Amino acid sequence: MAKLIIKGGTPLTGTVKVHGAKNAVLPIIAATILGQHGISVIHETPALDDVATIAAVLQSMGIRVNHQDERLTINATAVTSFEAPLELVNKMRASILVMGPLLARFGRARVGLPGGCAIGSRPIDQHLKGFEAMGAIIHFGEQYVEAVLPENQTRLRGTRLYLDVPSVGATENIMMAATLAEGTTVIENAAREPEIVDLSNLLNAMGAHVRGAGTDTIRIEGVRELQAVHHHVIPDRIEAGTFLIAAAITGGHIMVDGAISHHLTSLLAKLRETGVEITEHENAIEAKVVRPLRSVDIKTLPYPGFPTDLQAQMMALLTTVPGDSIITETIFENRFMHVAELQKFNGKMMVEGRQAIITGGQNLRPAQACATDLRAGAAVVLAALAANGESEISGLHHIDRGYVDLVGKLTRLGANIERDEMVKAVNVLSQSSESI
Ligand code: UD1
Repeated sequence: MAKLIIKGGTPLTGTVKVHGAKNAVLPIIAATILGQHGISVIHETPALDDVATIAAVLQSMGIRVNHQDERLTINATAVTSFEAPLELVNKMRASILVMGPLLARFGRARVGLPGGCAIGSRPIDQHLKGFEAMGAIIHFGEQYVEAVLPENQTRLRGTRLYLDVPSVGATENIMMAATLAEGTTVIENAAREPEIVDLSNLLNAMGAHVRGAGTDTIRIEGVRELQAVHHHVIPDRIEAGTFLIAAAITGGHIMVDGAISHHLTSLLAKLRETGVEITEHENAIEAKVVRPLRSVDIKTLPYPGFPTDLQAQMMALLTTVPGDSIITETIFENRFMHVAELQKFNGKMMVEGRQAIITGGQNLRPAQACATDLRAGAAVVLAALAANGESEISGLHHIDRGYVDLVGKLTRLGANIERDEMVKAVNVLSQSSESI
């Protein structure tokens, strides 16, 4: 299997540039399906496996997609299929995001689903509740879910809707569906993530009327049609946060260029609480370790609370910081798969339900560990960077879903890291479990 070989123990120093946000670009690519005329150009599109997967979903519908030098061009004028194939949805759950745009523009959408109702423990009931409230009929088949308009209806109908959980994906899917609906849709208890604001900016530039994105009430007045658009994707706050934590765990000094500090308020507050010196620049964030760090408690919450996507990386850091910490995960059940991997590095923690209790202050030891999902992968890389000696990390296909050129970026910060590609073909065959 392909592996990362990391010789840790060196403080990382220097400047790293953050790429476009994975979680912003995926719904944005899905939204381009709504553009009836012209060619959309999405700038700052990161070269990630997840981007390739959503591009493949669009291509399977007859949409022309081209990705070159962080520029994605999409021609969705002609669409020949209204289905996201099961094998691509299996690879990446965010493929479900094509459902809203397809339903809005063509009155029908089908998405492959294993078992027909949910993916793992991550349900899509809130997405479907939204479509149903707008008049769509939902049908579960053996391996798919389908939404269609009734025969006498040509457009979705605006509605008032309360989300039971502020789901990021459901907010995005319903927002996109509502852009071409008849009348006004109001989403209450909407998610407030910066990626939702980015999507709303794109939709408005296409000709939509979306107001309130970034608050918990989003109002969408339906329009008749939308055009293709040029758009610049926001920087990836999770990638930026991962590098800030890398500075902290290695006792280093890193400038994350392109990061937007108000997208990372909760992480910056928590890093400051540990004692990391944080400086917010206009278009960059700097993290520097100047004194011994101390433990903090973390509770993941919907934005602007602490992001679940930085929980694993923060756990890696807290294993090294003297004192006990408690991490409470409130967004996802069972998002502690990295615990067993961090224990291989001599991390001391135990899980009780939704809490992990960490006994900090450990000298991390090199280990052979696995990236069990995307952010767990980032956490084990961080642990390896902190551990004195040579570690090996496998399961790299998870990391490739969300980090562009991780090896190059860490090398330029002074890390001793190499990717052993010898048996990449085997690794491709082992791609199976979709993760967060
Ligand atoms: C998005 C992010 C992911 C991040 C997550 C939470 C993308 C591509 N992915 O995932 O990186 O970790 O937000 O910030 O943007 N839920 C339901 N019913 C639904 C939908 C969700 O109960 O219909 C639950 C989920 O099981 C989960 C919680 O709501 O417990 C949050 O999920 P959601 O916000 O939808 O996450 P994603 O959009 O899948």
